[in-house]
Amino acid sequence: QVGTQEASPGTPAINWDAYPESTALPELLKLKNGTTVKTPEDWMKRRRPELQELIQREMFGYLPAAQPFTATVTKMVPDALAGKATLKEISLNFTQLPPEAPEIRLALWIPNRHPAGKIPVFLTLNYCGNANVTTDPQTTIHTDRYCSKKEWIGQRGGQADFWCVEQVIDRGYAFATYHESDTKADKNEWTDGLFPYLKSDQVPAGSQPATIALWAWGLLRCVDQLAQEPQLDPRRICLLGHSRRGKTVLFAAAMDERIALVVPHQSGTGGMALSRENNQETVERINRVFPHWFCGEFKKFGGNEPRIPFDQHAVASLVAPRLLLDTEGDQDAWANFPRSLETLKAIDPVWKLLGKTGLVGSGLITSVTEIQPGKVGELLQLRLPEKHTLTNEFWTGILNYADLMLPKSTTP
Ligand code: GCU
Repeated sequence: QVGTQEASPGTPAINWDAYPESTALPELLKLKNGTTVKTPEDWMKRRRPELQELIQREMFGYLPAAQPFTATVTKMVPDALAGKATLKEISLNFTQLPPEAPEIRLALWIPNRHPAGKIPVFLTLNYCGNANVTTDPQTTIHTDRYCSKKEWIGQRGGQADFWCVEQVIDRGYAFATYHESDTKADKNEWTDGLFPYLKSDQVPAGSQPATIALWAWGLLRCVDQLAQEPQLDPRRICLLGHSRRGKTVLFAAAMDERIALVVPHQSGTGGMALSRENNQETVERINRVFPHWFCGEFKKFGGNEPRIPFDQHAVASLVAPRLLLDTEGDQDAWANFPRSLETLKAIDPVWKLLGKTGLVGSGLITSVTEIQPGKVGELLQLRLPEKHTLTNEFWTGILNYADLMLPKSTTP
């Protein structure tokens, strides 16, 4: 059972010899066999797969394989958001899973006015249904999925000020989202969503995909669909998630090279913040309070952080050579932005090895006006005077960064 903290009777004791203690961060540019990683090929073909294996086995659980699906447009609204966008509601039905397996309901707003060429898109994971992300009266309200904020179930636009969909559309980007409970409810129960259909007998119990891996899997199926949308640019697919969903988008981008830009917003422990010397949320605490986020194997590291054979820099390094924008609020006392900046510093050598700029200067900027050519690289922390939330000012920074750093538009 995923999320079980206690070893069941008869379970062999953990062999700690296999997890030597190191207060220093484990080296990224060294293969398991001790050989130094010297070339981009060593990194992409050898080290990256080793780290992907390690973080899945020991932390997130194994990401299930992709599944074929049929995509049915269940609603099409050409004048959504007061005429600014076309809303497409698309249902992804997995053809090789039993018919009772839930669908993923993707909502996609495509700007009606945009620069010539294919359109970039931001894909997000929402926590209380697609109708909650905007006040647009045309989005379908669903009430059949779990949401811990009961007052938001069946309500429209509860998080409109957070997602700022109109602002994204006005800037010429499409906005896509799905409700996390389509794949897995945010609770330590394992009978709902897609887990019963995606768990595998081939995978040991302690490395079954836990909640974050299932959420990430759903995002990647949405990417499968977005990459097929004729108006969208498959080279400019961006992922954004907040907090626990920031941890999720970082893992998704680590596992899938189709993501051009990932924004793990205030992702904290289990996301951008290092687990070693984390004086805010410890691994012990996150495992205890949210036992369903990470796989069973990860439980052993609570209080044993120096024995984790990787750290969050290993997860973030897998995004190389793509764009990683770490957005943080300086009044957010929980997501540990200093330890997230340390992650950026620790992964910079990987971008440099791959011939990229990586960090420019300290890698930290504190105002959106600093996003200028030559002043920022593929790795950046944008830290604004904000709390643990997403605001239009963050979006301005994120969109400015995307305008500057994403590849130029593909011709239609
Ligand atoms: C809790 C949890 C964090 C998480 C946050 C959130 O505070 O401890 O790890 O990031 O919830 O998702 O908002």
